[in-house]
Order: sequence, then structure tokens, then C-alpha cells
Amino acid sequence: MKRRVLVIGASSGIGRSIANAAAAANCRVALVARREAQLAQVLQECGGDGVAITADVTAEQDCERLARQAAAELGHLDAVFYSAGVSPLVPTSRLTTDAWLTALRINVIGASLAMKACISHMSPSGVIAYLSSTSLGKRRHGGIVYQASKAAMEEALVVLRVEHPSCRFVNVSVGATSGTELVRDRDPALAKLLAPEWAKRALVSENLMHATPLGQTIFRMIEPVLDYPSAFVTDIRIEESGSDPADASKLAGPHPDPQLRPGVQPLPARPTGDRCGRGCVRRHPRPPRQRLSSRQSAFQFSGIKRFTSRPFSAERSDRHGTARAARCH
Ligand SMILES: NC(=O)c1ccc[n+]([C@@H]2O[C@H](COP(=O)([O-])OP(=O)(O)OC[C@H]3O[C@@H](n4cnc5c(N)ncnc54)[C@H](OP(=O)(O)O)[C@@H]3O)[C@@H](O)[C@H]2O)c1
Repeated sequence: MKRRVLVIGASSGIGRSIANAAAAANCRVALVARREAQLAQVLQECGGDGVAITADVTAEQDCERLARQAAAELGHLDAVFYSAGVSPLVPTSRLTTDAWLTALRINVIGASLAMKACISHMSPSGVIAYLSSTSLGKRRHGGIVYQASKAAMEEALVVLRVEHPSCRFVNVSVGATSGTELVRDRDPALAKLLAPEWAKRALVSENLMHATPLGQTIFRMIEPVLDYPSAFVTDIRIEESGSDPADASKLAGPHPDPQLRPGVQPLPARPTGDRCGRGCVRRHPRPPRQRLSSRQSAFQFSGIKRFTSRPFSAERSDRHGTARAARCH
């Protein structure tokens, strides 16, 4: 009998590729997204054996309807892939309730409500797979709502597993992928501003994965799980080889965008060393140390450059009077 697969977020990117891979593996598919025309095209790519359901996961009734409609068309569902998602770039200075809600509504609330609606339509030991990201835990400027929303849903899966042991919930974390529309709503100017900082922290991979082979890989990894109903598979992680999150998380530096921290100007960059492609630093030899008074050393240690940039010996010429006046300004 043909397997029945529901893909939520099937109109583009990774979801579209998962749908194509499922159809190529002789499954019947139910495809969900908001854009009707794109969805119809994907159903055509899939050979037309299935149903396209236009729905918005931010609407609770749509989550119920999409599960009902998919089950009515296909029968019980063997696998559900939740690939709907948004990834807004939001530095803290631009953080708003709306920015939070956009990400949470699709990446967390919609995901959990759609899963809730699907559970009663799943075949025994069916699999519900959630598309998460390997960006979790990486120090990435602008990633606050995206990374937090993915982390929230990963935690929700932990609870869903104990509350619904008849169903298997698999977290599929993937790395940066091209051939998708995930960044279509991002402010290009902001992305350009943050890009060098990401590159400096080894957070930009030169070899992105592509949505087409990635979607096929995800489907082919879930397929054997369906064949093995007692297997307890919780996490799958797929990223391009060469990324090293441990290195990246060790690197820290000043914020790249002065406007994001009003009133604070970044210190001029000091040539401290050369970086290799993996983020390792070869340090330049230090200049010889100046002898400083204990008070001046303390300023330098705390990074208050305004005080240490003055030639202290000139201040000392007038002993305490001039020197103190200079510091007060
Ligand atoms: N691309 C990457 O680098 C990357 C990396 C790690 C993880 N991921 C994750 O992989 C998943 C798929 O992303 P992608 O890169 O393939 O992005 P994508 O091409 O933008 O696909 C997102 C899909 O979600 C659908 N969608 C968005 N909002 C929706 C809503 N309110 N209701 C119903 N459907 C909605 C979109 O269709 P409509 O607009 O037609 O509704 C689209 O089909 C996401 O969860 C993403 O976080 C992606």
C-alpha cells in the first residue's frame, strides 16, 4: 500500500523537495502552504497523486482543517513533515512584539497546533518530523527570535513525545541551505551589515547545502524509521561538512552596527592577528608595554580608551592639578 505523507510548508524550499522525494518514493502526498499557485505547481511536480490544501498555520482553525482534509483525502497519515517556517533577522535594537509574534506564530504555535490536529489522524507509530536549525547555540547577531523560536519548539517536542507515545516526533536540525525562500523578507541592508560579523565568527559556510538533495536526504532518512515501528528516533542533524560550532561559539567581539547600541561608538579595530578559514587566529607580536601608573593601568584594563590615549607624562608635568582636570573632562 502507498504511504501517505503530509508536508506542511510544501510550496517552496526544503518542504517542496521533501514532497517531491515522497512522491518519487511512490507515496501519496498532501501539501500545505498559503500560496495556492505555487502549491498547485508542486502537486503537479509530484505527479498529481494527492491534494493541495491552502492554509495558514497561524490560524488555529486552519491547523484543524488541514489535518482533517489531508486525512479525508489520504486516509491515516504515515508521516508528517512540518517545514513551514520564517527566519526574520532581528537585532535587539529592532526587537518588537510583532517580530516575536511572527516567528512564534509560525515556528512554534502553528507547529504545535498542526501537530496536535494531526495526532488523531496518524497511523500507529507514525512519524511527525519538525524542521529545526543547527544555528541553535551559535552566537549570531540578529538571530534572537529565530533561534529562540526553534529552541522553544524543540523543547515542545520533548513533551509531545511523553504525552503521545503512540506517535514518534523527530527533530530534524539542518544547516544553512540555498534554493529556498527563507530569507525573502529580510532587510537586505541589515543582512549586508551583519554579514561580515557572521563571517568573522565562522558562521557563514562557503558550501551551503541545496534544498533539493537535502529534502531527498531528509525523506530517505525518515523512510526507514517508518519501516521500523519500534525505533525511537528523536534527533537527526544534517549540515555541510566543515562547519565547527565549537570554534564559532568561542569567538566574541564588538557589535558590528554602532546604530544598534545608541550612544556607544565601537573602538577602532586593532590589528590583532590573521584569521584562517576555520576561525583560528594567528596573533601579531605585541608592541612593547608602556610602564603605566597603577591608576592608568586600571583604566586601560577596563577599556576606557579616552583616558589612556593622552600622553600621561605631559599631565604629570603639572603633577596633580592638570592631570586631575584632564581626567574630569
Ligand atoms: N534554509 C535554511 O538555511 C534553513 C536552515 C535551517 C533550518 N531551516 C528550516 O527549514 C524549514 C523550511 O525552510 P526553507 O528554507 O525551505 O524556507 P522556505 O522556502 O521559505 O519555505 C517555507 C515554507 O513555509 C511556508 N509557510 C510560511 N509561513 C506559513 C504559514 N503561516 N502557513 C503555512 N505555510 C507557511 C511557505 O509557504 P507559503 O509562503 O506559501 O505559505 C513555504 O512553503 C523552516 O522551518 C526553516 O526554519 C531552513
